[in-house]
Amino acid sequence: MPKEVVDFFAPRLVAWQRSHGRNSLPWQNTRDPYRVWLSEIMLQQTQVTTVLGYYQRFLERFPTVLDLGAATLDEVLALWAGLGYYSRARNLHACAQAVASQHAGQFPGTAAALQELPGIGRSTAAAIAAFCFGERVAILDGNVKRVLTRLLAFEGDMASAAEEKKLWLLATELLPAQGDQMTADQMTAYTQGLMDLGSGVCTARSPQCLLCPVSELCAGRAQGEPTRFPIKTKKLKRSRRENWWLWLEHEGQVLLSQRPATGVWAGLWSLPMYDDEAALQQAASALATPLEPMPGIKHVLTHFDWTLHTQRAELRARPDSGQFDGEWVARERLAEYALPAPLKKLIG
Ligand code: ADE
Repeated sequence: MPKEVVDFFAPRLVAWQRSHGRNSLPWQNTRDPYRVWLSEIMLQQTQVTTVLGYYQRFLERFPTVLDLGAATLDEVLALWAGLGYYSRARNLHACAQAVASQHAGQFPGTAAALQELPGIGRSTAAAIAAFCFGERVAILDGNVKRVLTRLLAFEGDMASAAEEKKLWLLATELLPAQGDQMTADQMTAYTQGLMDLGSGVCTARSPQCLLCPVSELCAGRAQGEPTRFPIKTKKLKRSRRENWWLWLEHEGQVLLSQRPATGVWAGLWSLPMYDDEAALQQAASALATPLEPMPGIKHVLTHFDWTLHTQRAELRARPDSGQFDGEWVARERLAEYALPAPLKKLIG
């Protein structure tokens, strides 16, 4: 790596973060690991604007990590509902319990120890340690991979674990220089600066190089095509899926059915679901009630685009138990259940 990059990348990024970065998000200006951890887990696959409300509600309901660990998983899932990637909520709960039982309610104070906890990967552990303890340790999430592969015109394939390991080493070389002059505040600004640059300037499709504090150091830009990086050979194969939901209502109650413990929306409460319209009609035929179509829903997941059709039936009597698995829930109590985002939308 050119000496100029090693010498100037961190100081320029730190100065830029302080003047142009995000400095008043609710999880900033605190060194409380509980708050920082909660925000980092929520922000892993979810945008800041969506996270804000959830973050506030979690802190109100669970002011400390001990409160979170003492809650039931169902309650945590209900509060998480709509954020997606529900394994994060399961791990969140397991992590809070581990902090309570193994660490006397205090998050450990190093990235290495944080990484041993459920749901905390290497980059998240580093972010928490940098923000809370000023530890000099590198982060490397998807956004930061993009920033660094462009800065360095890194030709390695990000689908290769060996190449990714090289990038971790380079990320460590770029950290603010070690020594007495390095402060905890610098590590905070540096770490946040990488995130801010990745989300607001060095974006996937149209990087704003004219606004970038390190554009003069950027080899990707010097080569004329920064968006060629990161290089990734294994492309995600996306597919489509189509399913039919049956909305059964009786005297203000809706039939909810719990999803299996594995797969999409594991453990969440959903509607009875069918693979095709014929299967739904077959199941509904005994109800002797006309079905009305509800608006179709398109839901985008990592691996597939999902089209959800819904047919609704207002019943004059509850069907025999055994015909449908699930629980009848009053409409005004639906919010207490962990419902997937598209179902929340359907309820309105
Ligand atoms: N994404 C991940 N961590 C973040 C943070 N601390 N601030 C804003 N966006 C983030």
